[in-house]
Amino acid sequence: REVRVLLDTDRTVIYQFAPGKLGEVVVEAVCGQWQSILGIKSPQALFVEGSDSFYRSGQVRAINDIYTEDLTPCHREFLEDLQVRGSLIVPMIGKDSQLWGLLIAHECSGPRVWQTAEQELLQHLAAQAAIAIHQAELYQESLNAATADRVKAEQLAKTVIELHNTQAQLIQTEKMSTLGQLVAGVAHEINNPVNFIYGNLSHASEYTKDLLCLVELYRQHYPNPHPEISECSEEIDIEFLTEDLPKILGSMKIGVERIRQLVVSLRNFSRSDQAQKKGVDIHEGIESTLLILQHRIKAQSDRDTVKIIKEYGNLPLVECYASSLNQVFMNLIGNALDALEMGKRERVMNAPSLGASAAATYSISQKQAIEPVEINGSTKFLIPDFPYPCIRIRTELIDEKTVGICIADNGHGIPKELISHIFNPFFTTKPVGQGTGLGLSISYQIVVEKHQGVLKCVSIPGQGTEFWIEIPLN
Ligand SMILES: Nc1ncnc2c1ncn2[C@@H]1O[C@H](COP(=O)(O)OP(=O)(O)OP(=O)(O)O)[C@@H](O)[C@H]1O
Ligand SMILES: [Mg+2]
Repeated sequence: REVRVLLDTDRTVIYQFAPGKLGEVVVEAVCGQWQSILGIKSPQALFVEGSDSFYRSGQVRAINDIYTEDLTPCHREFLEDLQVRGSLIVPMIGKDSQLWGLLIAHECSGPRVWQTAEQELLQHLAAQAAIAIHQAELYQESLNAATADRVKAEQLAKTVIELHNTQAQLIQTEKMSTLGQLVAGVAHEINNPVNFIYGNLSHASEYTKDLLCLVELYRQHYPNPHPEISECSEEIDIEFLTEDLPKILGSMKIGVERIRQLVVSLRNFSRSDQAQKKGVDIHEGIESTLLILQHRIKAQSDRDTVKIIKEYGNLPLVECYASSLNQVFMNLIGNALDALEMGKRERVMNAPSLGASAAATYSISQKQAIEPVEINGSTKFLIPDFPYPCIRIRTELIDEKTVGICIADNGHGIPKELISHIFNPFFTTKPVGQGTGLGLSISYQIVVEKHQGVLKCVSIPGQGTEFWIEIPLN
């Protein structure tokens, strides 16, 4: 517009050449009644041979009047269409001395004799504009490069996160499969000697009974034995021995039976034979997990035995990956035990001189905070409200297609600001070396991705935590 005003013309435009194409009018300032020619493309025929090098050398084309100027009919017609009578055309040279475009002044109202000063002015302005445009192009290029770099950096960051997650899963899967193998191996190794003992124990009981019977017969028929025999029977306290030996054998039998159950549970837990989905008894999985964690459930120096409240519903077999699901139970019950241990430690730390009664007060004083929490549309709240460490495990058939498993503890709970992070890989609040922060992220994957189920968590700080699993029946 400035150019138009300076030259006092009817129209000024910038015609930009496109690489490999003719180009078009990209900028325009037009006055009064004259038509706009923005976007107009010049016909190929107008660019006669040599015009490119003519302009590239910086020369100016001045047309005072299209009817007196030596123009091709096509050119004249084109200019007539644009309402042009006189025209001043100066080249705009871009980088590498390329012809970037043309700065053109149009006189529409009548012919015009272009003065040398006017020509020089337009040339000067074209040069300035070309420099500005060149700089803008450079700026755009650097902007584009920066955007491309940012996109690349974002992609890279995403890839790193994905890699991190995959690595985390691999570590956990490897850890669990190693545990599974170890458990299966131990179970197998124990199985043989235990069966050996179990098989022989019944014979041993039988023989013992026979021998004791024989001794009794001797005592009946030889009431006055040789002094050496009396001395010996007194020394070994034959009365007590006769009474105790069958009991010992009985308790040995109970012990061996327990070991055999343990072996069955260990095998259930590892289920290394089952990479396929199978109809699984969920309760069996929970029971074997509890058995493996038995040593942690038992009373510790600083806390009572954890009470396990089982509220098992009537569940059909569930089509699932047994060992993966056991891994989830292991993680959730393991976390609950951690929370109970930690909760205890915190309680004791808060009231070092009050001991066990302080623990009870701590729980009870927080009671008011309990509010039912919305899970799955119905109000359920299973966090045990007892003054001693508790884990409540509840199972139910939610509808004909889904089973629900709930694992709740009355441990220290999870602060509100942390709850959205607990399923993230590597998120842990446990001391270095104690928690990897993978348990829940893997559990989430197993339940949600592998089984198309649901895994949710509700927690009240200071009260406890509840994890809710839903698994489709098949
Ligand atoms: N029952 C719970 N009570 C309180 N906090 C819990 C409970 N379960 C999980 N959390 C919190 O969620 C965090 C993440 O748990 P997650 O099982 O993923 O990792 P972790 O237990 O810390 O380590 P690991 O990989 O050994 O399981 C825990 O560090 C803990 O802060
Ligand atoms: Mg854990």
